Amino acid sequence: MSDPAVRRSPLEPVALADAAGPSWTVRLLAEAASTNVLAAADARPGLVVVADHQTAGRGRLDRSWETPAGVALTFSAVVDPGLPDARWPLLPLAVAVAVAQAVRRSAGVSPELKWPNDVLVDGRKLAGILLERVGPPARGSRPLAVVGIGLNVDQTADELPVPTATSLRIEGATVERTALFGAVLAALEETLAVLRADAERVLASYREQCSTLGAAVEVQLPGGELLSGTAEAIDGHGRVVVAGRAVAAGDVVHLRRHGRSPGED
Ligand code: BTN
Repeated sequence: MSDPAVRRSPLEPVALADAAGPSWTVRLLAEAASTNVLAAADARPGLVVVADHQTAGRGRLDRSWETPAGVALTFSAVVDPGLPDARWPLLPLAVAVAVAQAVRRSAGVSPELKWPNDVLVDGRKLAGILLERVGPPARGSRPLAVVGIGLNVDQTADELPVPTATSLRIEGATVERTALFGAVLAALEETLAVLRADAERVLASYREQCSTLGAAVEVQLPGGELLSGTAEAIDGHGRVVVAGRAVAAGDVVHLRRHGRSPGED
């Protein structure tokens, strides 16, 4: 059972800034439509916009991201990835690796990653990531990334928008949102540094945790085409290879995991 003092504990600006550490400037809002939109509007490296209640959260592929007040982490961090353009497609994967690491360290829960960057526990979605590129803000400067993260922390089952979602609370973990926030930012800094120095290491960690690999999948491609087959690989560009075809963008559905059908024992 979760500790009522932890559940729905308010976020405080000073505690969040302490948890984040000196590399980040934290702006906490009691309510905001979308932290990604606010962070992109004022993009400078190190800015993190946090909403205690995000009312119009945006997801990948024009979806929405819904969370009630006070029970989730919804924030957007602006980073200068310092990567050549060819390496930008690896960023969403690296952020997923960072979120999974923070969840393991602070909550003791081991997530799996669904391509490209869904963080799941036993097939149910715990966290979503929306990465947007802004800029370059001025001539001669570099483009920045807005890293939007939505993490289900303390929701009960009836506070989740869909039955295919989960929260840390449902997974049996009681975690302070502030501590988890600090852990995610620390893991993000660490993973981005590794990505700059040795992208293969991040890819290897991603592949180890990726439950899409080896699964029978259906991928809805951006033009609407449906591609079915086994997810054979995550290539060096961060693309998923399905039935011999490398896919850079799309919506993946896992049909069977590890050779079993959903619901099978
Ligand atoms: C997805 O899985 O579709 C991505 C969801 C991303 C949601 C986060 S919550 C914080 C940030 N602000 C937004 O509007 N979206 C991201």
